[in-house]
Amino acid sequence: MKSFRLLTRRGLLIGAGAAATIGAPAFGQGHAMRRIAPNRASDAFTPDVELELICKRDKTPILTGKPTRVWRYVGNLIKGPPNALTALPDAYLGPLLRFTKGQKIRIRLRNELPEETITHWHGLHVPMLMDGHPTAAIDPGETYVYEFEIRNRAGMYFYHPHTHEKTATQVYRGLAGAIIIEDEEERALGLPSGEFEIPLVIQDRSFDGDNQLAYGDDMHTSMFGFYGDRVLVNGRRNLTLDVASRAYRLRILNGSNARIYKLCWDDRTPLTVIGVDGGLLEKAETRPYVMLAPAERVDLIVDFSGRPQGSKLTMLSGEFYGLIPPMAQRMMGSDLAMGEEFPLFAASVTKASNDTWKLPEKLSTIRRIRKEQTANPGDPIPIAITMDHMAMFLNGRPYGHDDIQPRERIPVDTTQLIEIFHERGGMGGMGMGGMRGRGMMGGGMMRGRMGGMGMGMMGGMGMMGMMSMAHPIHLHGQPFEIIERSFEGDEDAYASIRDGFIDSGLKDTVLVTPGERLRIIKPFGDFKGRFMYHCHNLEHEDAGMMREFSVE
Ligand code: C2O
Ligand code: CU
Ligand code: CU
Repeated sequence: MKSFRLLTRRGLLIGAGAAATIGAPAFGQGHAMRRIAPNRASDAFTPDVELELICKRDKTPILTGKPTRVWRYVGNLIKGPPNALTALPDAYLGPLLRFTKGQKIRIRLRNELPEETITHWHGLHVPMLMDGHPTAAIDPGETYVYEFEIRNRAGMYFYHPHTHEKTATQVYRGLAGAIIIEDEEERALGLPSGEFEIPLVIQDRSFDGDNQLAYGDDMHTSMFGFYGDRVLVNGRRNLTLDVASRAYRLRILNGSNARIYKLCWDDRTPLTVIGVDGGLLEKAETRPYVMLAPAERVDLIVDFSGRPQGSKLTMLSGEFYGLIPPMAQRMMGSDLAMGEEFPLFAASVTKASNDTWKLPEKLSTIRRIRKEQTANPGDPIPIAITMDHMAMFLNGRPYGHDDIQPRERIPVDTTQLIEIFHERGGMGGMGMGGMRGRGMMGGGMMRGRMGGMGMGMMGGMGMMGMMSMAHPIHLHGQPFEIIERSFEGDEDAYASIRDGFIDSGLKDTVLVTPGERLRIIKPFGDFKGRFMYHCHNLEHEDAGMMREFSVE
């Protein structure tokens, strides 16, 4: 692992030797993205909340000693209630934004970075022009004005850059923040709030000897994603929350580039889940653990009442396997192997409280859509995930704006049945068969395991077993329901994760593990335009595992 260097994917490929010879077909297209002019404020729009977000370089203390250079969002509230923007002290994370359903929001995004950027409001249902599409990227010194109305239900959302082929590195350097949306339905429940409601953003990072962020600028990182050596929660190491002996609401976002966590309490107290990406569940669910993939959110109630002062409860990432190929695990170059047990944060009971809040039985009503009510009950739109030794595709194609395929055209105001699955047979249909056996896998990375096995044989195996890994698939726009999850494969590995999926709520990101096939129902209402769907393993996203739906 070297110190952070700015390299384009093309730069990575050139640095990677053999792979460069095939001209970077999949790991980044290397082409410039067509741009639209930066959106300006409109006189016709009267915001309830107006704020400025500046993307800038900064330094912040993370480890003891020298501060760490980061890129971050710094915010100023121009208009609106004071709680609309809360800066996190001593953390690189962007300010916590708190909006209410129905509010009109204006955000002035100013780019003070040394490169282009654009911000996406992950999970929010907004028009394309307000969605942070890569074609909306702004250059250093420019400002992009977002104006939209909050249409989402109460929930925790996520803002982060969505810059063409630079999302992973920009998020990694620190550009990320949480958004909380409130609504009347949720307020009526009287859930723990104020100091008893704690947003927690989990990320992993690596540091060099000089306390600076280190990023694996190698093929392994672009293939499997970045896995850091240390866990940071709200930008801090070893975060310990001081809590009172009463109920708390913990709102957790996985803001990591690629790492998947298995949340569980160290004393095996079950987790009480009240919500996921798109807001509250109808009823709380109790689980031994919860899987949380990049960009997923989980809303937990944890009741510390009855716990003695001085006691401590630690949230761990528990042991699991099967989400990344064993070969990749070994070569990860991180001290924290994915699937190994390690602590995330702790809560220490320091105050007594007589508060005896009880979780309501019914939390919310989710308007469910039956399969028969979709536009295509017998003919799901495919999202086929291909991860081959040189390909990061969805539906057999890398990302390309203006490359809409027939199945990617969706009439506005329809609801679609979508099937997400792993594609067998790698690059079939792309006419790239001649590339098999060249590039990174031919370059010696497989030596340890493959020994003398010829590349022809690997081609014959279709790379499926070896390369299969979990992908958090995210769709922009309105949230979806998961109606089916089927699995065929290694039952033992699956047993270590299967109880951790919360499929009963509305989602915008879903983990599709090796051997799984999912069916989801998603509305495409209100806005025409191009809306992305992609893997939220950010290295995969930047490598081309992204496509667009054209809602028309
Ligand atoms: Cu969180 Cu298209 O992104
Ligand atoms: Cu998104
Ligand atoms: Cu992926």
